[in-house]
Amino acid sequence: MVPLQNDTLIRALLREPTPHTPIWIMRQAGRYLPEYNRTRARAGSFMDLCRNPAAATEVTLQPLERFPLDAAILFSDILTIPDAMGLGLSFVEGEGPRFARPLRDEQAILNLAVPDPMAELRYVMDAVAQIRKALAGRVPLIGFSGSPFTLACYMIEGRGGTEFHETKRLLYERPELMHHLLHVNARAVTAYLAAQVEAGAQVLMLFDTWGGALSGEAFHEFSLRYLQLVLAGLPREHAGSRIPRIVFTKGGGQWLESLAHIGADAVGLDWTVDIAKARARVGDRVALQGNLDPAVLFASPEAIRREANKVLAGYGHGPGHVFNLGHGISQFTPPENVAALVEAVHASSRQFH
Ligand code: CP3
Repeated sequence: MVPLQNDTLIRALLREPTPHTPIWIMRQAGRYLPEYNRTRARAGSFMDLCRNPAAATEVTLQPLERFPLDAAILFSDILTIPDAMGLGLSFVEGEGPRFARPLRDEQAILNLAVPDPMAELRYVMDAVAQIRKALAGRVPLIGFSGSPFTLACYMIEGRGGTEFHETKRLLYERPELMHHLLHVNARAVTAYLAAQVEAGAQVLMLFDTWGGALSGEAFHEFSLRYLQLVLAGLPREHAGSRIPRIVFTKGGGQWLESLAHIGADAVGLDWTVDIAKARARVGDRVALQGNLDPAVLFASPEAIRREANKVLAGYGHGPGHVFNLGHGISQFTPPENVAALVEAVHASSRQFH
């Protein structure tokens, strides 16, 4: 395997010294880039893009051609697992994800099986291998999955944009059935992420997008516990290299201490969290990733530089910070503002290292 030319992301996640703070952006490949929209139109639909390893490789590399980002992230989606379980995923233009067969009764939940990553999800592993080859060691490749709880939300609701009434009804009325579903999801996520590592992923990230919708008690029982179970089942190393893992619970700022104790190397922060206070709370247990408000990218380059500096200064001196947005980049972001952000983070962060 070719050695990494830029290992700042891996080093920062392991809290080792780096010359500057590495930066990558959640949803860095996506609709704000005109070249992405062209490739997607050519591929047909978003899922056609995900299922075509050559096209997925092309769009994964697009943001790296424009900006000197310190990582690539696999182009795919968290909903590939429930799709492989037979729920029938589609994306309705302007409305987000839809499942043709959401989990509506006990039997549907009991019938679920863990998909074989090398069979139903083979297209994802092929994309990982092809992207890793195309990167040729430029930057590390991040693989990812949704958390067991976040996947369950989509599987039960059947779509995004709900208030999780069906999910929470099941959780409160039939907790043992919810636990069964979460166990199946945890096994599926663990196998999927381990297969991504085998295929070439060098960092893993778990997106717990909806964990923050739970009460504190329910979060620990129904989301955190399964994040921990997944992490415990993953290899810490592959081919002699550490495989750092990042967990991100959106809206999970109140539970940082818990998130820092489940075996992750880094915890992602949304923009509602004060990063200086977050660092004081987790100490040197984990690295921190985040947490610029994505809406800052609608402002002027001067404002972007100023707000990026606040995040850098908030984290302060020393290793253990990966710069990112507090959530995915908006499709309405002007690409030149991303260039301004990446440049500002690389230049201004040197004083903190
Ligand atoms: O970060 C990256 O660049 C890698 C690719 C990536 C996508 N989705 C591509 C995508 C990643 C890491 C995801 C994760 C994902 N997907 C999450 C967790 C992160 C988060 O945002 O909280 C979630 C909840 C999903 C589910 C999902 N996929 C939704 C709700 C949507 C619709 C979004 C919208 O704004 O319409 C998607 C579609 C999706 N996933 C797009 C992209 C680039 C847009 C699809 C398109 O091109 O039409």
